Amino acid sequence: MPRQPHQPQTPEQAPSGQAPRGQGSRAPRHVTLRAAGAVTVLAAAAVALGAFSWFTHEQTDLAQHTEFARPIQTGPPPVSVTSLSAEECGRCHAAIYAEWRTTMHARAWTDPLVQSYWKKEGELWVCRTCHTPLEAQQPVTVLAVEDGHIDRPVTEPNEHYDPALVDEGVTCASCHVRGGTIFGPNRTPAPGAPHPTAYDPNLLSPEACYRCHQVPDGAMPFFAGGPCADDFQFRNGPYARNGYTCQSCHMPTVDRAVASGSPVRSTRSHIWRGGHAPEMLRKALTVRLAPDVPLWGDGQRLVFTARLTNSGAGHPIPIGDPNRHFTVHWELINDKGRVVRHRTDKVIRRILWKPVTVEVKDGRIAPLSFRDFEYKVRSRRGWRLRVTVNYHILTAHQKKGLVKRHGLPPATPDHIDLYRQEVDLSPGALVPSEMMPVPSPVATLGAGRLAAAE
Ligand code: HEC
Ligand code: HEC
Ligand code: HEC
Ligand code: HEC
Ligand code: HEC
Repeated sequence: MPRQPHQPQTPEQAPSGQAPRGQGSRAPRHVTLRAAGAVTVLAAAAVALGAFSWFTHEQTDLAQHTEFARPIQTGPPPVSVTSLSAEECGRCHAAIYAEWRTTMHARAWTDPLVQSYWKKEGELWVCRTCHTPLEAQQPVTVLAVEDGHIDRPVTEPNEHYDPALVDEGVTCASCHVRGGTIFGPNRTPAPGAPHPTAYDPNLLSPEACYRCHQVPDGAMPFFAGGPCADDFQFRNGPYARNGYTCQSCHMPTVDRAVASGSPVRSTRSHIWRGGHAPEMLRKALTVRLAPDVPLWGDGQRLVFTARLTNSGAGHPIPIGDPNRHFTVHWELINDKGRVVRHRTDKVIRRILWKPVTVEVKDGRIAPLSFRDFEYKVRSRRGWRLRVTVNYHILTAHQKKGLVKRHGLPPATPDHIDLYRQEVDLSPGALVPSEMMPVPSPVATLGAGRLAAAE
């Protein structure tokens, strides 16, 4: 049932949801979020309507739903471009194409984890509207969903379907092509492009990402309320206030020719590294481990603190799919090398998915803040404390289910090691120098950091 108010839609949109030049732009959809009073009234009306449709078995019109639920209309390939395929763009934009191919955007459909999850979700059509977002990538057109049930689509065959494009996932055209025109970030489009180009200012802002990465008010229970959103705490956070965009960190600048034969200039890379990239995760999370005292005698009680600081992400970490989490694993090892005691702390969100989607607990670490975890031990000759911090793409339990029932290859990586430290608990042992002094307070967003990210 529709739980949220209508979203106005413009039929022919620039890539990131804004009407093309000269047609005026529609109101940003976040405005509805801020107009809390109006939303409450509309939401109440929507709930009432939803209840009504439950009795009458109405079909829910997809036009009422958010942008993400409808595939992207690119129109035909732009003049002088033979197809919408990334490979075709790569003919001239070789460097960008080569980068894109290494990303999760390019693998958004072939990714074995997505494939197995899609099977688990009964091959739900809506997954495709972000993971294979173009109209030409949809085998069928979804006209409506019955009674507001996302798993009861009313469909017809899609005459624009091109199976060859499906495996390209989030392909170039998803962000750049609308109505047969190529939209770019240049106010004055570069001369020499063989295809029609137009300026889309949203490509310079987080708007370019929101369609898929921020789902603030989906009518579908699966997405309602934002557990899948990457932005809720970016917009008002310290990075946004300092002029950062998603692109600052996920599409760092490089100097190069944008197309073969073009002059070298400053442009942005297309690498979008995130939770599958160890170097990105290590940037996001700084771990410091420290004892409460610098030196100890025999049998002394000690408290070790592991401080996890979000030192480099513009949003809370872990971000994205709510299965993502960090673990801090403590192991007390005796003088014979055996683990005699252990504990695992988690940085995780807890979401109740059914019967309603509610965030029960948000345990994530906000930008530039930290979480401390403590572990108490006693000093003892030959004993050691081992601390390991890992990032998990999904839980062990989920992986087991996906492997057993939905064809996930068992070798699919499920975690990334981020930090490991062993401390000798013997009296008089030297504390490793990198553990001293005790962790500094919150990280700060200094001018140096700003420069480094750009
Ligand atoms: C997820 C969205 C997305 C995808 C997919 C994507 N791009 Fe981009 N592209 C952008 C954004 C955002 C910018 C603007 C970055 C900036 O300058 O701030 C951009 C800029 C460009 C530019 C202009 C660079 C300049 O400095 O003038 C070209 C050319 C380009 N992309 C080509 C491609 C090609 C080719 C592909 C596929 C291989 C592709 N893009 C895939 C988002 C995307
Ligand atoms: C036949 C060569 C060729 C093909 C094919 C091609 N492009 Fe381009 N494109 C260019 C050239 C040349 C430029 C101008 C580059 C510059 O800025 O120096 C350009 C510019 C662009 C720009 C920047 C527009 C602006 O803001 O100035 C984007 C975005 C872009 N192309 C995307 C694409 C996408 C997406 C595809 C595939 C659907 C594609 N191009 C296919 C040659 C090509
Ligand atoms: C058309 C939909 C779409 C748009 C637009 C889009 N993304 Fe994505 N993005 C996805 C999907 C789907 C995935 C997940 C792919 C997977 O893991 O299989 C993803 C994954 C990512 C990841 C995770 C990479 C990893 O290693 O886990 C990052 C980072 C990312 N996107 C950044 C961006 C940024 C920045 C923008 C805006 C410039 C953007 N995306 C625009 C759909 C989109
Ligand atoms: C200050 C730099 C910075 C900014 C700004 C930033 N990010 Fe990130 N982002 C990171 C780092 C570092 C990571 C790796 C940490 C992680 O995956 O938990 C990351 C991870 C991600 C991921 C990976 C999630 C996954 O499941 O693997 C996505 C998606 C993402 N960011 C999207 C965005 C979007 C969308 C924006 C803008 C609204 C944005 N980021 C702004 C630094 C940044
Ligand atoms: C509104 C757009 C959207 C829809 C709809 C959507 N996804 Fe995603 N999905 C994303 C984005 C963006 C990411 C990457 C960031 C993150 O982790 O949240 C992602 C990540 C994932 C991942 C993690 C991939 C990896 O390699 O770590 C899986 C699995 C996944 N999606 C499956 C699904 C399934 C199954 C559905 C349908 C039930 C679905 N998605 C619907 C946008 C979407």
